[in-house]
Formats: sequence, structure tokens, C-alpha cells
Amino acid sequence: MSDFGNLIGLFGLSIILIKIDHSLPIPKHIAIIMDGNGRWAKKRFLPRSSGHRQGAKTVKEIVKAAKSFNIPVLTLYAFSTENWKRPPDEVSFLFDLLFNFIEKSFQEFIDGGVRLRVLGDISKFPPRLINEIERTVKESAANKDLQLNIALNYGARQEIILAFKKMAAAGITDPTQEDVSKFLYTHDQPDPDLLIRTSGERRISNFLLWQIAYSELYITDVLWPDFTKADLETAIAHFQKRQRRFGGL
Ligand code: IPE
Ligand code: IPE
Ligand code: MG
Repeated sequence: MSDFGNLIGLFGLSIILIKIDHSLPIPKHIAIIMDGNGRWAKKRFLPRSSGHRQGAKTVKEIVKAAKSFNIPVLTLYAFSTENWKRPPDEVSFLFDLLFNFIEKSFQEFIDGGVRLRVLGDISKFPPRLINEIERTVKESAANKDLQLNIALNYGARQEIILAFKKMAAAGITDPTQEDVSKFLYTHDQPDPDLLIRTSGERRISNFLLWQIAYSELYITDVLWPDFTKADLETAIAHFQKRQRRFGGL
């Protein structure tokens, strides 16, 4: 967006940016609820679609930033099972945006070592989008630098139900916590150490309910389209100051 737009964004904020301490551990998995695209647009008297378009630019920046900070796994919540309730034209705009994002931006990520995984059931998405996603997942399968999970038509409750159905099919009648974890979309990945939500809402919105049992939460008022590499660094630095006890002393 324009400098003018950024100026307005800045007036709404009073954040202090802090740096990563390289002597301390960084999160192995960061999950982000990318929220606030609509409000970003509304503040600028623009259609919601402009907010989503700007939000897609933020996705690009944040993937690159996560890679530069050596974060092994990044999960982005892009479309929830509840987002179908939005007007059909907004839903199809989001699909088009996703298609363009994967088609235009992803090659650069693949070349840079990013591996794509989808969390969620994309079978009801437009066929050409499904093809594009599946092609990219395959093409990036051997990459090892950053595991990028995009949550698409994702709902944590649906994921947990699916896991129980898969366990039943596998004959597991007395499941352990490890069994459940093994049947989730994130089966071979560490649970998120850090969960970030932008735009100030203090809720989880059906995201990774099982996996975030002990995640550190970081909620910022910054709207997703305004979220920068410096904001991500600040979130990581806050995480580094937290004392995680996991129920102990
Ligand atoms: C997040 O921004 C993007 C999606 C959920 C797809 P929103 O569209 O939810 O933006 P707000 O919450 O209306 O500001
Ligand atoms: C959560 O944002 C879903 C995504 C970011 C994809 P929403 O904007 O849909 O969440 P609610 O409706 O405010 O809970
Ligand atoms: Mg929202």
C-alpha cells in the first residue's frame, strides 16, 4: 500500500520492537492466526479484497522472515472451516488470491528450500486450485529449510474427529496422547511453541486445539497486512522472555 496508508497504520499503534537473543532457544514451530485484513481495508475506506491482497504480501514477507530466523516449522491459518459462512464473492476472491500466490510466489520459496504442507480438507476447493496446491506440495517435498503449513478449510475439531476415525480404522481402541498426535495433519512435527494472533482478538477460532496445549500465546493489535519481519522478531523475543513451566515449578 501507499506511504499514506502506512502512516495511518502507524498512528493506530504504539509498539516497542525488540530483538531476538541469539543465546536463547528460538521456537521450533510458530503458528499464526492471520487476522485483520478486513479491518485494515475498512480503515482505509477500501474493499475487504484490498485487505486480503495486502495480507498475501505479508504472507510472503513473513515466510521469508521465518526462514531468515531459522524457524523450522511455520503454520499459517488462511481459511477456516467456518470461513465458508462469508459471502460467496469473498470466498472465491480468497481462492483466486491463493491460486495466484502459489502460482506466482511459490517457485521462489521452493528454490529457497521451503516445503509446503496443507492442514485441512481441500477437496471442496476449485479443481484448478487443488491441482496447483498438490503440484506444489509434491514439488517441494524434498525441501528441508522451512516446513510451511498452510491451514486451508481447517478446523481443529474436525481434525481431531478425523484422527479418531483413523485410529478406529487402524484398530486403536485405547489411544494414548502420542497416538492422537500421530493421526493429526501435523503428525511428524513438534507442537507450536508460539501461537501468534494479529488484530487483537483474544480467541483461538478452532485452530490447532490439540497441538497448542502448552503453546505460548502472543496477541498483537497489529493488523495482519501491517505485520512485518520486525513484528515477528518482537514476538519471538517476547517468547524468549517467557518462563515455560509445563505444569512444573
Ligand atoms: C483474516 O482477515 C483473513 C481470513 C480469515 C481469511 P479477516 O478477513 O478475518 O479480517 P477481519 O477480521 O474482518 O478484520
Ligand atoms: C480466523 O479468523 C481464521 C483465519 C485467520 C483463517 P476469523 O476472522 O475467521 O475468526 P473469527 O471469526 O474472528 O473468530
Ligand atoms: Mg477476522
